[in-house]
Amino acid sequence: MSRVNTFLLFIFICITHFFTGNGEQVTHRETLEIAIGGGGALPSPPPEDEYCPPPLPPPCPPPPPPPCPEPMPPPPPPTSPPPPAPSPPPPPKKPRPPPKKSPPPSTGFESPRLELVYPVIQEFKDLVVDDPNGITKTWMGKNICGDYKGFVCDTRPDIKQKALAGVKFNNFNFGGPNLTLTRSLSRLPDLVFFHANSNNFTGFIPNNLHELKYFYELDLSNNNFSGRFPYEVFRAKKLLFLDLRFNAFEGTVPPRVFNLNLDLLFINNNNFIQTLPDNLGKTTALYLTLANNKFVGGIPPSIGQASNTLLEVLFLNNQLTGCLPYQIGLLKKAAVFDVGFNMLHGPIPHSFQCLEKMELLNLAGNKFNGVVPEAVCSLPKLMNFTLSYNYFTQVGPQCRKLIKNRVLDVRMNCILDLPNQRTAAECASFFTKTHSCPNERSLNYVPCKGGLSAGAQIKSSDIQSPASAPDLAQAPRRGTYGALSPH
Ligand SMILES: *[C@@H]1O[C@H](CO)[C@@H](O)[C@H](O)[C@H]1NC(C)=O
Ligand SMILES: *[C@@H]1O[C@H](CO)[C@@H](O)[C@H](O)[C@H]1NC(C)=O
Ligand SMILES: *[C@@H]1O[C@H](CO)[C@@H](O)[C@H](O)[C@H]1NC(C)=O
Ligand SMILES: *[C@@H]1O[C@H](CO)[C@@H](O)[C@H](O)[C@H]1NC(C)=O
Repeated sequence: MSRVNTFLLFIFICITHFFTGNGEQVTHRETLEIAIGGGGALPSPPPEDEYCPPPLPPPCPPPPPPPCPEPMPPPPPPTSPPPPAPSPPPPPKKPRPPPKKSPPPSTGFESPRLELVYPVIQEFKDLVVDDPNGITKTWMGKNICGDYKGFVCDTRPDIKQKALAGVKFNNFNFGGPNLTLTRSLSRLPDLVFFHANSNNFTGFIPNNLHELKYFYELDLSNNNFSGRFPYEVFRAKKLLFLDLRFNAFEGTVPPRVFNLNLDLLFINNNNFIQTLPDNLGKTTALYLTLANNKFVGGIPPSIGQASNTLLEVLFLNNQLTGCLPYQIGLLKKAAVFDVGFNMLHGPIPHSFQCLEKMELLNLAGNKFNGVVPEAVCSLPKLMNFTLSYNYFTQVGPQCRKLIKNRVLDVRMNCILDLPNQRTAAECASFFTKTHSCPNERSLNYVPCKGGLSAGAQIKSSDIQSPASAPDLAQAPRRGTYGALSPH
């Protein structure tokens, strides 16, 4: 049990590390603590999992050592010579046992594991041609754990030796024509995480990640990777955290990615082009960002299978088409769902009223139409509900309350009695075409109530009902939205 706790704490620390790079630690720390540390949202590691990553020191400077007790003042010098002590002769000395283990040969390194990686670091240093922050200047001498910026040491649990456990190159802006991972990542066998946001790493991902027994986290975001999806990551059997956002990867994302046992998958801001695979919902990720690529086709109904894990999902700025499947409404833990700026159409499924944890719901910039379901406007946690730039035609009193409180944004729709709407001509032209969905009846299904909704019937008397104005909503910035900036 304590091992599981250590494990969770460790992952918590690493992920907050990651997010603190965005300067938004507080919100994320809390979000992640709930999600990962305390909420039981994670499946426990499988029983055959015999390794656990070494716990890391917290990101903040370690607390000062506990105050030592004041040393006893030395006894005052004797004023007179002490009488000769009639001490009995000392017992015959036992021969001193030879030391159990000879002390480590004084190589100057804290441990043999560090001695092992020293030449790797020195060789890698030569590849860092651009080092605008002067980081590699600190990579000198044998005190790797104490002096070297960008490296984190910890005790490797199986051999109980100090080892190089983490690489933290975030925002170092390292560059150079041969700056690849094959000269670094693949030759640091004790690594638990490799975080290299905002550098100019290029080339391939090494194919020996299975040799890194404790490797959990790979962050290559905002680097200079291109070409096909890096299949090599599949060799890292324990990967929990995969961040490839802001590179120039292209082609397709292998469906296998969604079968990995990840907590976090960020692949936004690349050039992936494909229909989303049917097994998308197999993902165990709590945080999933597919934004700013060229994904086409529909959102797979399998997404509902992620209902026990998925907390935040960003599909925004792709080329998705079709209607929203009712299964999205099964995502009872999700707090962020964003399909903004795609080419989706149809109504908001009535199942969305089951999204009881939803805080940020963005459907802006599509071709959605119909009535905004009142029950969705009544979701208890909703803080930011954006429907602008669609073709919705009606909102009821509950939704109007949200508009007044600036929680709901319905600008540029076809709601004729509200300001800032599309022109009548634009709306008319849209409605000359039919915009039907397959299986329309499913869009009235309300899974949390086990039945079909009667549909949002709005009485005309409701529309004019006065809305009270509680405090303006304050939408938090969420974890995955941080992933939409490169750093
Ligand atoms: C990568 O190199 C290019 C060209 O030198 C530079 O403009 C860019 O800022 C570098 N990127 C990072 C993240 O350091
Ligand atoms: C990069 O690698 C190429 C080929 O191995 C070599 O010729 C070149 O000198 C290297 N450049 C640097 C800056 O290390
Ligand atoms: C980025 O990678 C490409 C090859 O994939 C290379 O030609 C280019 O020089 C790299 N840019 C930087 C700034 O390292
Ligand atoms: C609400 O979310 C939209 C898009 O998701 C964003 O553009 C807008 O700034 C947010 N509004 C507030 C008040 O946070």
